[in-house]
Amino acid sequence: MPRIPLEDNFNDVINKSQRGLKITDEELAKRAEVSAADLAAVKAGKPIDAVVRRVARHLRLSPNALEALAHKRWYPEAPVFARGFAAFNTPHEDMTVNSYLVWDLGTRAAAAFDTGASCTAMLDIIAAEDLKLHYIFITHTHPDHIADLARLASGTGAEVWSSEQERVEHPGARYFREGAHFHLGALAIRTLLTSGHSPGQTTFVVSGLSRPLAIVGDSLFASSMGGSPTHFDEQFRNNREKILPLPDDTVLACGHGPLTTLGQEKQHNPFFAR
Ligand SMILES: [Fe+2]
Repeated sequence: MPRIPLEDNFNDVINKSQRGLKITDEELAKRAEVSAADLAAVKAGKPIDAVVRRVARHLRLSPNALEALAHKRWYPEAPVFARGFAAFNTPHEDMTVNSYLVWDLGTRAAAAFDTGASCTAMLDIIAAEDLKLHYIFITHTHPDHIADLARLASGTGAEVWSSEQERVEHPGARYFREGAHFHLGALAIRTLLTSGHSPGQTTFVVSGLSRPLAIVGDSLFASSMGGSPTHFDEQFRNNREKILPLPDDTVLACGHGPLTTLGQEKQHNPFFAR
């Protein structure tokens, strides 16, 4: 599988944080003691280290992690699952979107997390592994994440579930609260409300595989995070309070970009590294 690019470049991270914290360019240049021209160059993608580091400190970002990202010195080491997990990366407009499948090895009971732009590859794995899809869980209802929902649901007969705070439009869909539990053979799935990027965005914590797994939607990306400019604080707080306390070896399966682990993000994500 070709390497999936990181969702955000260093200047995207700067822009996200700056918009979220509502600091103007003028104010940022002044606080960080950099020239307007240097700030503009960095924001346009030119990695001037001294400026990147100064700006980072005023945007609550880790200077080391941001500088490493600016020079593309880091890419997550792919976490490995023996069995029972598959990731799908499908093109949607000018980007790609991820969807995931987990299953219990004993009973062959499976759950899908989002559909991506197309569920064809997922249906192939379901057939090849002789799985029975019980659930389709929706991390959030942005169109790229649920683009093939009708086909996946009708092709498998699975129940469709999303957050009661973000109700997916699908006949017969059901809605969970935060802290809901689902079971798939020996696997357990628990819901965490990690809103910000969208009102009901959910992280699904899966236990019972060979290592802990969190399907985080667009809450967090390898070396970046989600969140709209208006709900940046909410997303940041939910990530810190609900995702960061999970065990370091938890695999993070993000809505965009490569798989990562919580331990790696604590070291390399400019928003969370210290
Ligand atoms: Fe997305």
